[in-house]
Amino acid sequence: MKTRIKTVISDAVAASIVEAFPALSVTADEIYKSLEYPPDKSMGDISFPCFKFSRTLRCAPNKIAAAVSEKIESSGALDGTSSVSVAGGYVNFTISADFLGGELLPEILAAGADYGRSREGEGKTVVIDYSSPNVAKPFHIGHLGTTVIGHSIKLLHQFCGYNCVGINHLGDWGTQFGKMIVAYRLWGDREKIEAGGIDELVALYVKFHEEAERDPSLDARAREEFHKLETGDAENLELWQWFKGVSLKEYGVTYRQLGIEFDSWNGESFYTDKMPAEVEKLREKGLLKLDDGASIVDLSEYNMPPCLILKSDGSTLYPTRDIAAAVYRAETYHFDKCIYVTSAGQSLHFAQWFRVVELMGYPWYDRLVHVPYGTVSIGGEKLATRTGNVILLKDLFALAIEKVSDIITEKNPSLSGEEKSETAEAVGVGAIVFYYLSSGRIRDINFNIDDALNFEGNTGPYAMYTYARTCSVMRKAEAEEISPSGGSIENDEERSLILTLSRFGEAVSAALDEYEPSHVTRYILDLCADFNRFYHDCPILTADDEKTASFRVGLTAAAGNVLKSALSLICLKTPEKI
Ligand code: ARG
Repeated sequence: MKTRIKTVISDAVAASIVEAFPALSVTADEIYKSLEYPPDKSMGDISFPCFKFSRTLRCAPNKIAAAVSEKIESSGALDGTSSVSVAGGYVNFTISADFLGGELLPEILAAGADYGRSREGEGKTVVIDYSSPNVAKPFHIGHLGTTVIGHSIKLLHQFCGYNCVGINHLGDWGTQFGKMIVAYRLWGDREKIEAGGIDELVALYVKFHEEAERDPSLDARAREEFHKLETGDAENLELWQWFKGVSLKEYGVTYRQLGIEFDSWNGESFYTDKMPAEVEKLREKGLLKLDDGASIVDLSEYNMPPCLILKSDGSTLYPTRDIAAAVYRAETYHFDKCIYVTSAGQSLHFAQWFRVVELMGYPWYDRLVHVPYGTVSIGGEKLATRTGNVILLKDLFALAIEKVSDIITEKNPSLSGEEKSETAEAVGVGAIVFYYLSSGRIRDINFNIDDALNFEGNTGPYAMYTYARTCSVMRKAEAEEISPSGGSIENDEERSLILTLSRFGEAVSAALDEYEPSHVTRYILDLCADFNRFYHDCPILTADDEKTASFRVGLTAAAGNVLKSALSLICLKTPEKI
């Protein structure tokens, strides 16, 4: 969303340029995009660099800046909102204390939870395919990225008015289920699995692989059992349903901790009966080629290896299911965008089948978006690694929750019972999510749990604690009947805080446009830094006079509202007491 103050400034600059340099055609929108926040605050709050017009106008940047500033002054377009000065090739704007405190702040307060929201998505539908763990396999830290980046992308779209469909495209189909069925019949114990959950299923799966190395006939049996499953064998279907149920029950715990709900749980199995039509279409279009008995789409023309559609025994593959799923989603949801969030390791897979869908002639091929992310490793703390040598999300969360619980006991002994355990869960899980979403998604990250949990660092606990601090001020303000209001700024702490508040919509837009929640995470850290500086340096409830107290309560309320929205957008909960 555009900020109010930049809009005012870019309109004024555009008008002044038209006057000063009639030959130059530049729109207010272009000006808006080139406005900067100077790193050195003594330069002003916002600046307009003139360098890029120098060539066209055959005029030195400082002269352009002087001319623009003069025209703005003489037109009076910014009167009451901002003063103008020139420094080298920059026009610098210092927003007036009355405008910031008397107009922007009341606007932010009035908008409440809607502040920063845009309406760009109205009437548009976005499908987001994320999380999507593989049934009967561990939900491990490799899934943290797709789960929280995916959910944040969904929340950002919702915030901006899109109709969103979040899909958990469960990996619930494929030959591994044949293996599971064989393993269960040979060595499985129903009660043990009911009690032990996914761990037990994984143990069976691992055992299958060990045994199959010695006895390769097991693989043939597994294929046979999967074939029976595909052709509707009742007993195998029952077992498969049960494996799925056991897995879902466990995923449910993690999703609840993260506050994630899906609109659809249609996993890979859902497309079993929808694949033959697509295979037929590929054949009709002459796109299928036989390669060693397998059916493929040759993509050498596009510098990619072939996309595998059918194995030589006729069974379908991961891309086949993705193609059928995309067609189903296009027909069911009429999406404007269909977003897939997976590790960068799957980039080729998506590039391949996106191309296949284009070759098939589907008009929506260019509405498919793959959002990749980097790998995660864990340092600092040794987590018990279970079968398969992976770190489970639930173990990581449990460890964070336990550590936070100890810290909270120390910090706030009055918090107890359910309130304490809910808060510890929210802060512990939030710490992991925040840490993960602090760096750009494509970067590989190495997790350090103690860094993530440090209440004094640039962390989730620190941000959540800052939000709780705003709530505490608001509770006291209410008790003392000091209500929030606009006013006029008196110092740099207040100025800096409102300016940062005014940028929230921009952080949301950047995150949305680039599928990059870290823009919001970093914005939260800026806002927390500004709020905490203000909190320490400016007495709020004990301010010298009532007007100042009300104004500072207004600033606190606005900071609290924006923090709450921002934290929620990156999947964090917002406890009011920590
Ligand atoms: N189940 C897959 C995995 O864990 C991710 C699925 C992503 N979505 C998709 N439509 N292919 O690797």
